[in-house]
Amino acid sequence: CLAEISLDVDADQDGVVEKNNANKLILALCIPEGSYSELCVMCCEQASWKWGPEGHGAILLVNCDSDSGKRPDNQKSFIGTLEDLKDMSQMVLRTAGPKELPKGHTLKLHMLAHDAEAAQVFTKRFSHEQGSGKLSMEIIFTEEMTFFVSGLKFADIDFSGLVRIHVSLLQPGIPETPIFTDTVQFKMAPWIMTPNVQAPLKVYVCSTPDNAQFIDGMKKLVQEVGVEMQIITNEVNRGDRWIQDEMEFGYIQAPHQSCPVVFDSPRDRDLDNFPYNELMGPDFGYVTFKPPRDEVNSLESFGNLEVSPPVTVKGKSYPLGRIIIGGAFPFQTDGRNMSSATRNFLRAQVVQEPIVLFSDWLRVGHVDEFFTFVPAKDRKGFRLLLASPHAAYKLLHGLQETGHGQAKFFEGQLVSLNNDYYQRCIDWNRDRLKNELELDEEDIVDIPLLYKPKEKGAIMSKGAVSYYPDSVNMIVLWNNLGIAKPFGPKVNGQCAIEKEVTMLLEPLGLKCNFINDFVPYYENEGDVHCGSNVRRRAFNLKWWEMEM
Ligand SMILES: *[C@@H]1O[C@H](CO)[C@@H](O)[C@H](O)[C@H]1NC(C)=O
Repeated sequence: CLAEISLDVDADQDGVVEKNNANKLILALCIPEGSYSELCVMCCEQASWKWGPEGHGAILLVNCDSDSGKRPDNQKSFIGTLEDLKDMSQMVLRTAGPKELPKGHTLKLHMLAHDAEAAQVFTKRFSHEQGSGKLSMEIIFTEEMTFFVSGLKFADIDFSGLVRIHVSLLQPGIPETPIFTDTVQFKMAPWIMTPNVQAPLKVYVCSTPDNAQFIDGMKKLVQEVGVEMQIITNEVNRGDRWIQDEMEFGYIQAPHQSCPVVFDSPRDRDLDNFPYNELMGPDFGYVTFKPPRDEVNSLESFGNLEVSPPVTVKGKSYPLGRIIIGGAFPFQTDGRNMSSATRNFLRAQVVQEPIVLFSDWLRVGHVDEFFTFVPAKDRKGFRLLLASPHAAYKLLHGLQETGHGQAKFFEGQLVSLNNDYYQRCIDWNRDRLKNELELDEEDIVDIPLLYKPKEKGAIMSKGAVSYYPDSVNMIVLWNNLGIAKPFGPKVNGQCAIEKEVTMLLEPLGLKCNFINDFVPYYENEGDVHCGSNVRRRAFNLKWWEMEM
């Protein structure tokens, strides 16, 4: 007699568990009557994983939303609602041949401890059957049985993202011995960030007792653009206005399901509870880490976590862009970095390989204080806007030559601040970005901006803040930009900096909307970008179709 056992997964990535896929596991057991010792394998094909448009392999989602109750589903050992099954990957065990296994034989599904930390398996009985500590389950030999596999954690420095599940036929004895073991593989979907060129879905800002004017400016902008905006009340934000720093929106995707996932920054200030309490829910996932407290400094805030638009670099394509974070100058031993927990997590997602810039020269230390990306119709589809003290000096000297040298900034005369050091810091980052994103000069727009030491007379290399509201620290909603009103010197009644920024950006098809954020934001060392956050549409390209 012949028994055929096959474990099917969605290896062709169409959202449906197929029958007879070439990449699945098939055990065909030939069982000569009366002599179980002569069992033999007819066919045994290991399920495998391959990247690319012609690739294959099953995909798991970290079940980090909360379809029921208050905790994320990956912390539950039961299925709270049938809706939750949609977040899981199905696995079907099919058998053909004799109605039962030879006497004393058992069929078992099992995982190694390492894999069981990353996924758990449910059956129709809906209580957790395997995984997270429970390493094996006996399967009743029937024609067909469906399992639901739920992902528990993201790829990280100690977890490649591959999860293996084995099925074994065991023969009686003490201990039972496996006659066959074979394996299906799943890859955990990475957490993916969305750059400014992706369509906005929803804007978030905080309401505080002192920012009515800013909120009005933002309301006008989102109305014009037609995007929804959530105003987080003072009761919830407890005076913490830096919603950019509190969290980063991303998403996870599998052929059978996708959902947004908010990465809650370990900064843990007064907005701390917002992502968990207010955002996580049905089909809205949540992830965070708890690095050692002494590793968490200002660079851990997510104004220091950005992502570029899609690029191709030295022939290698990054169709989902590259993550950009800031840190200490390489080899500097006393600088600030993002915690290794956050850096390791970002790197382990693989699909948006991170670039580390030098941002520690800034007091707050976030990359969004000196650059942003805006969409453009030509060239690579975007421009890098880079803050430039040189461009600011050129503009101001031009004003002097045309007889406007007496025009004043909000806080006094045209400055005699030395910005050479800050320009060198930005130039170093500029070279890195040009290299790591393969940008040409024509892909970069220099936006005039000056910096100053936070404390008067403080050493230049510690703690720069922008001298006037930072134009590159902007919100990008399609072609509409919300930019901090710079309050620069006025020439013929018009702010010379506003005029210059507009002149640089409008030819790219962009619309500049200047928003007064002076007292509540600029004076607290952040501008429009720091004070807002945007959830954006996922990429059309499916991450598993990337060539890696
Ligand atoms: C910061 O991280 C970089 C690696 O990206 C490392 O070279 C450097 O030594 C670190 N600096 C500090 C002060 O930890």
